Amino acid sequence: MKITPAKTSRRDQIDFDQLTFGQIFTDHMFICDFKDGAWQTPEIVPYGPISIAPSMSALHYGQAVFEGMKAYKDTAGGVWLFRPDENFNRINRSSERLSIPAFPKEYFFEGLNALLKLDQNWIPTDAGSSLYVRPFVFANTAGIQASPAKEYRFMIICSPVKAYYSGAMRVKVEEKFSRAAPGGVGYAKAAGNYAAQFYPTGLAQKEDYQQVIWTDASAHQNLEESGTMNVFVRLNDELITAPTSDSILDGVTRKSILQIAKDKGLAVSVRPIAIAELVEGHASGALKEVFGCGTAVVISPFEGFGFQNNYYPIEAPTDSFAQMLKETLVGIQYNTLEDPYNWRYKVL
Ligand code: COI
Repeated sequence: MKITPAKTSRRDQIDFDQLTFGQIFTDHMFICDFKDGAWQTPEIVPYGPISIAPSMSALHYGQAVFEGMKAYKDTAGGVWLFRPDENFNRINRSSERLSIPAFPKEYFFEGLNALLKLDQNWIPTDAGSSLYVRPFVFANTAGIQASPAKEYRFMIICSPVKAYYSGAMRVKVEEKFSRAAPGGVGYAKAAGNYAAQFYPTGLAQKEDYQQVIWTDASAHQNLEESGTMNVFVRLNDELITAPTSDSILDGVTRKSILQIAKDKGLAVSVRPIAIAELVEGHASGALKEVFGCGTAVVISPFEGFGFQNNYYPIEAPTDSFAQMLKETLVGIQYNTLEDPYNWRYKVL
């Protein structure tokens, strides 16, 4: 791998107390091009604009997928990733669905390690902050023929971040628009999945919600995801999340929470959740918690949900599962707790 270090660092010009998610990027970025049927030698170069043709196919046909990961720095200066194998495997599953060639594992890990070593001073250390790592790959062929591109570019960029959402969230159950449908690309982190959410989410935001709860595309009866998050529901002491499918993203935080919850002895169910159960649970008092989870948000409690012109507030319980699970998860991520699962990956 060729490394061209930045001549000077921008690190000292950044106010780490005033970070907005994904606005500031570190000094370096990773680039690897696919051409002539193969991934070429990767490079790390100073972060900056890239040049593309106006006919570049990702702009026209959306052949683009991404990942979201975080790097954490512990109090001794150790640098860690959380389950990076999961992100590596998922970006290639997403790529396969979008007809993008698989990226080699050794390039992915060499790139991550070298980039984080170079930009380690950019990893924030205050509670809840981390370095968001964004691998992505896009079709980079010039030409507007509607067929898979012949050339691709794989990149990794990094952004120091605080928590994604601050405070509790109000979410609206969406019954008209769909995020994903059976046979579609909902399980992939396809760029276009996110674009398609912006309009319905914007409508919900006008009604003072922060996000929508996506329901199944055919009947809009079962809960699928919310915004950029997987969702957990607690009915009495049962913790439930929807099974992954071709319309639900196989979230790394989701599967980590499932494991931690089982090991804490909680009653965990992976099964379809009807919106009707939420409404009934609200009436009976069985509905104790609903929370979203994801790499960017970690675990984010919902303070209420809107459904068919009614609003159902959810009062945070004193024995919050979300809080307990978050403490363990974050403890493993930041190396303040034992990691019985071997999920932490040491970079430095
Ligand atoms: C993540 O949690 O990493 C996501 O994919 C959310 C992102 C769209 C901000």
